[in-house]
Amino acid sequence: MAIISVINGPNLNMLGTREPGIYGSQTLKDIENSLLQLAHQHGHDLLFYQSNAEHDLVNNVQQSRQNEVAVILLNPAAFTHTSVALRDALLACDTPFIELHLSNVHARESFRQHSYFSDIAKGVICGFGPKSYELALLAALPLIEKTPRD
Ligand code: DQA
Repeated sequence: MAIISVINGPNLNMLGTREPGIYGSQTLKDIENSLLQLAHQHGHDLLFYQSNAEHDLVNNVQQSRQNEVAVILLNPAAFTHTSVALRDALLACDTPFIELHLSNVHARESFRQHSYFSDIAKGVICGFGPKSYELALLAALPLIEKTPRD
């Protein structure tokens, strides 16, 4: 059993009503519930965290080691395109992570096409709506086997 941390950035607490044409109609709670079922099927547990505040996300990432998190699934939301602080926190905690997005950021405005995370992530998943979270979890499984914590 490993612990996987699922971290969501700003405005993702608004899923369900936020621009449903882009982000779909599922709430963050809906997404978390299906993800938890999938994680349990594979014998793992999830820690969920969402914040609109950059410093709280940094603090949460910094706690990954003491929480014995094996892998992080991260949707940095708008901080994808702006946050050196969150990038540095991920480098400092050295826990492998997968970057994910509901929308296909490469098919959107040009400012969404640069990420401060993609080059240091194990991989990037985007464009599959809520399924992006499930795909990220499935992609995390072999990483867990390769990075056991003692
Ligand atoms: C997002 C894409 C970002 O560009 C945007 O700022 C978000 C959500 C996504 O999941 O598609 O808030 O990360």
